[in-house]
Amino acid sequence: MSERQFLALILAAGKGTRMKSTLPKVLHHIGGRSLLAHVLTLVCDAGADQCGVVIAPDLSEVGDEALRVNSGTLIFQQAKQLGTANAVLAAREAISEFDGDVIVLYGDTPLITNKTVSAMRQALNADADIVVLGFNAQDPSGYGRLLMGADDILLAIREDKDASAAEQKVTFCNSGVMGFKSQSMLTLLEAISNNNAAEEYYLTDAIEIARSQGLKATAITCPESEVLGVNSRAQLAEAEAIFQKRMRDGAMRNGATLIDPATVYFSSDTTIGRDVVIEPHVIFGPGVTIHDGARIKGFSHLEGANIASGATVGPYARLRPGADIGENAKVGNFVEIKNAVIGDSAKVNHLSYVGDAEVGTSANIGAGTITCNYDGFRKHQTAIGAGAFIGSNTALVAPVKIGDGAFVGSGSVITSDVEPDALAIARGIQEIRPGWAAKFRALMTRAKRKAS
Ligand code: UD1
Ligand code: CA
Repeated sequence: MSERQFLALILAAGKGTRMKSTLPKVLHHIGGRSLLAHVLTLVCDAGADQCGVVIAPDLSEVGDEALRVNSGTLIFQQAKQLGTANAVLAAREAISEFDGDVIVLYGDTPLITNKTVSAMRQALNADADIVVLGFNAQDPSGYGRLLMGADDILLAIREDKDASAAEQKVTFCNSGVMGFKSQSMLTLLEAISNNNAAEEYYLTDAIEIARSQGLKATAITCPESEVLGVNSRAQLAEAEAIFQKRMRDGAMRNGATLIDPATVYFSSDTTIGRDVVIEPHVIFGPGVTIHDGARIKGFSHLEGANIASGATVGPYARLRPGADIGENAKVGNFVEIKNAVIGDSAKVNHLSYVGDAEVGTSANIGAGTITCNYDGFRKHQTAIGAGAFIGSNTALVAPVKIGDGAFVGSGSVITSDVEPDALAIARGIQEIRPGWAAKFRALMTRAKRKAS
């Protein structure tokens, strides 16, 4: 790619009223991260030297999110929503100080790819002064139409409201993503008026103005699915579906088996190694890494978890943030793990809660074991040594340590530390009374007969 600098400007001053939400539209999520974060991450990955976001003055949460994703983001405020050209002019100063390619994107259009941004920069690097990202719309209504001349020259963009009957038949549409050479950009934007049906300053008018100044505008094409804009909850779900399909395809391309891909849900940051098998109905929240050869069985829910090679999780397991599952370890059905390291080859196979804990290599945690990590005020740690054996239905009242190789009898409530290789039993002692049951039955039978 060229040595030219790249400034990305993301428009996000719109309220998104059709979402019917108290949350600004661009803060709604797909794949576990905001629409705005998707766009910001995309432009950073595509090599932006500088990013700016245009927000409305009363949408400071949008600026906060931009800074959380990339602390170097420039935040611009558009005082009144007078149209897309006016929105871009909120960044006037940054543009005037900048020398290179400026690409304008929308915060509500999260599925554009790196490849497409690169193609736009290539067009600017060739001989275009403006490049527009177009797509062939199944239903063009509502979109600006790209009116093309010979030799891929873009003559004009006609907004739907201003289009003639003939222009309305055009299906090649404006995605909203536009690239400019910074040198000519401000002169073009400042020449735009609001003399149109919507009385808005249309960024799209820059095309005809450029032509009148002898500058060259062109368009490139991408699939419609890439430029889906989110305006409603239904479109949010559509975007989620496209995103999930991409993640599933990506995991399989990298060598994971998804037995029924359509039932597996990823987050944008899910990392899946080779020869991982993911069974049906698995949900990955943010922050999950699965290393080579691990198996995630059906109906498991994972977030903030690291699964080492060869480990098995599920079916029906719940891994919460800080779950760190060692090599070849096993986490079985109806087990919840939170903020806990499970050592290599350790087993927590059935119906347990392990939280704020460390479980040593090859330890065995019996069915129904619970770490009682919370006293109503604070959280406490449990440490279980390597090779320890915790009998079923044990309550480990933290803070507590079980030494390496120790045994804990089933049904124990362990409140103090157990030394290595010791046996701890903390439950009622079993008593046997031979013949008691037979005598009891005889007694009760006689009493019942007398009464009748
Ligand atoms: C715009 C394009 C249209 C294109 C369509 C693609 C213009 C004039 N029209 O139309 O050609 O087909 O997008 O979806 O550009 N925004 C601001 N401040 C404003 C106005 C808008 O920040 O004053 C932001 C919005 O938050 C939104 C984006 O710009 O993210 C697009 O604005 P919108 O009003 O939805 O434009 P459309 O009418 O859909
Ligand atoms: Ca729109």
